[in-house]
Amino acid sequence: MSETIVGLENLTKRCSVLEELKLGIARTEKVMSEPMVRFENVAKRYGTLSVLDELNLDIARNEKVCIIGPSGSGKTTVLRMLMTLERINEGVIWVDGEPLTHMRKNGQMVPANERHLRRVRGKIGMVFQHFNLFPHMTALQNCVEAPISVLGLSRQEAETRAAELLDMVGLSDKKNHFPIQLSGGQKQRVAIARALAMRPKVMLFDEVTSALDPELVGEVLNVIRKLGTEHDLTMLMVTHQMAFAKEFSDRVCFFYGGKIAEQGPPDQLFGDPQHERTRQFLSAVLEAR
Ligand SMILES: Nc1ncnc2c1ncn2[C@@H]1O[C@H](COP(=O)(O)OP(=O)(O)O)[C@@H](O)[C@H]1O
Ligand SMILES: [Mg+2]
Repeated sequence: MSETIVGLENLTKRCSVLEELKLGIARTEKVMSEPMVRFENVAKRYGTLSVLDELNLDIARNEKVCIIGPSGSGKTTVLRMLMTLERINEGVIWVDGEPLTHMRKNGQMVPANERHLRRVRGKIGMVFQHFNLFPHMTALQNCVEAPISVLGLSRQEAETRAAELLDMVGLSDKKNHFPIQLSGGQKQRVAIARALAMRPKVMLFDEVTSALDPELVGEVLNVIRKLGTEHDLTMLMVTHQMAFAKEFSDRVCFFYGGKIAEQGPPDQLFGDPQHERTRQFLSAVLEAR
């Protein structure tokens, strides 16, 4: 009799473990199916100037999205809002399944406070057109300060990780160089390593090759290509490098006047654009080359 009871108890335990496993799998599936980034009816205005109007855009986990479009169409604003460098006027931005621009308070969504913004923004890294390296710090120092002060890493841990990242971007021999001693391409690769040192899940690139001499563009694009294939990263990239966008991205969004005028897989958007604006833009860009 007691054997039967023990047997039953074991069975019950196994069932509850199974239930927990099922719940865990369901939770993981839900997280994996949620977009990594979601812009939901986002509007951005500067005074009376409407820059983005009801932007709706979902970016899947590990998706590589290139943003193209004429100057002033709102491309940089999209990235800056995601990096919380700009406040939005309407809508909600979500990152990794939680609101970035808002937080839940007593069951209500309210605008996020600084602490919430900082925490969620920690999942995002950004590289700018003009490097923005600290001029008084070496390449290595540029990559260790924030991981120590923000992530709480020990100096030794941070230096080991920074050295690995500088190696990954092909700069292991330049660790102790100051920005002034580096070429534009090298500076940009340090900026990429610095952003990665914060262990982001999402990387934003805003025209990161536009300020470079043409012969240095390739070395930066090679690093981005490598990041895309070797790391689990969601990437959102504003670029004028159409050949790279075509080869690298899963999807291209063409912005015009603060809206996504057209989007699709690169082969379709470049090969068979549906909108006159897209055709005009692409032929103007290709003619300028
Ligand atoms: N801080 C600002 N104050 C006022 N207007 C701005 C500001 N930043 C951007 N804008 C305007 O917003 C529009 C979109 O700018 P931006 O996102 O930088 O475009 P893009 O990156 O596509 O060239 C432009 O008309 C620009 O002049
Ligand atoms: Mg811009």
